[in-house]
Amino acid sequence: MPTAADPGPAARGGIGIRRLAEGEEEAFARCFELAFSAAPTATHTERARLGLEPGRTLVAVDGDEVVGTCALLSLEMTVPGGVLPVAGVSGVGVLPSHRRRGTLTHLIQRQLQDLHAGGEAVAALFASQAGIYGRFGFGMAGDDCAVRIATRDAELRALPAALGRMRIVHDPAASLAQLGGAYDRCRTGRPGMIRREERQWRSWWAELVADDPRPVLLAVHEREGVVDGYVLYRVELRWAQGQPSGLLQVQELIGDAPAVEAALWQYLLGIDLVSEVETWHRPPDDVLRWCLADLRSLNLTLRDGLWVRLVDGARALEGRGYGAEGELVFDLDDSGCPWNRGRYHLEVGPGGARCRRTRRSAQLHLDVAALGSAYLGAARLVQQARAGRVEESEPGAAARADRLLSWPIAPWCAEVF
Ligand SMILES: CC(C)(COP(=O)(O)OP(=O)(O)OC[C@H]1O[C@@H](n2cnc3c(N)ncnc32)[C@H](O)[C@@H]1OP(=O)(O)O)[C@@H](O)C(=O)NCCC(=O)NCCS
Repeated sequence: MPTAADPGPAARGGIGIRRLAEGEEEAFARCFELAFSAAPTATHTERARLGLEPGRTLVAVDGDEVVGTCALLSLEMTVPGGVLPVAGVSGVGVLPSHRRRGTLTHLIQRQLQDLHAGGEAVAALFASQAGIYGRFGFGMAGDDCAVRIATRDAELRALPAALGRMRIVHDPAASLAQLGGAYDRCRTGRPGMIRREERQWRSWWAELVADDPRPVLLAVHEREGVVDGYVLYRVELRWAQGQPSGLLQVQELIGDAPAVEAALWQYLLGIDLVSEVETWHRPPDDVLRWCLADLRSLNLTLRDGLWVRLVDGARALEGRGYGAEGELVFDLDDSGCPWNRGRYHLEVGPGGARCRRTRRSAQLHLDVAALGSAYLGAARLVQQARAGRVEESEPGAAARADRLLSWPIAPWCAEVF
């Protein structure tokens, strides 16, 4: 029955939107894999069974055929000063036969309405392409760094003392439980990181080994018998004119302190027969950069990482911590979530943050995507004002807002969900 919130399939060119029914994981996996031009297999269906949450997955249907997919994951994410429940948007795909007919738009609108009706105040995602999600109110909230380093030139000079030792673990799949402590201590210190329960460790591992037959190696760093960091990696041995020129790809490197992460890098850079170490996914404030004797031995490429959507802006702002006290009055614009629109007064004091509607004059005008970009602490309202994305009605308001919202550890999430 069409309603104001859902005008029905006729208004969507015959495409219906509904929740995934029990037992439909195969149809979900088929559509999602075909959207990425991959051949769907039983493993994909199994991964969908393992990863999807009942009641939080939407499909778009054309008659009986699933032609679009979109899932919400119940995540616990570190935010500045604490942790919050966050809705992870994942499994987004529309069949090439049905693209650019508004299907994704309808799926996301429905998700946002569902969240407004009783869900998390914040949604987050990783995007396959950076041009897709800004129009839905998501702001780029964390940078991701691709790292490539020639081991021959990579001397680590300023190495903080880690006082531990490295150990190679012989059966990584059976040893994931050993990694949880280090992961958790790292997670709670960095905005953007998400909690992993045993189920998530298993689905994360399944994802890691799914489409790549090369073995994953695991080395841990431990101190007094406690694992305080680990690195999972793959090595491809190569020979060029008789010389070894192997490539080592880091899958995940986690330490509970910068000194531990430096020790893990040192271990990787010293592995014989490897001439290059690379990873596409590291935080922009990785300790490696400041430990290298020769900065140019490191090749860094910066791009978008986490995207954040404030579904309930006031609740989201009250849910995080702040590095400074102060206040800000701002006008928030939001075409996708009209309930968010309006003027707010954010006050940060010793007891926490309060964000309420107000009639006072606004110092700053911004769109919800701009605020989402600042939310996890990589605040860049001054930069966005320079690009015309944020408007000041009081000089210096963007810089004052940045001081309130900034956090010393860069937001980043180890897991691409
Ligand atoms: C990306 C994808 C989900 C878009 O689905 P869709 O149903 O075609 O999207 P819509 O028709 O709702 O498009 C909405 C708007 O987004 C734009 N858009 C869609 N995909 C885009 C892309 N990849 N890059 C830039 N803009 C895009 C459309 O042009 C349209 O713009 P408009 O409102 O100005 O006309 C679909 O093309 C797809 O499955 N791609 C491959 C898999 C993928 O990348 N999934 C996303 C994982 S994060």
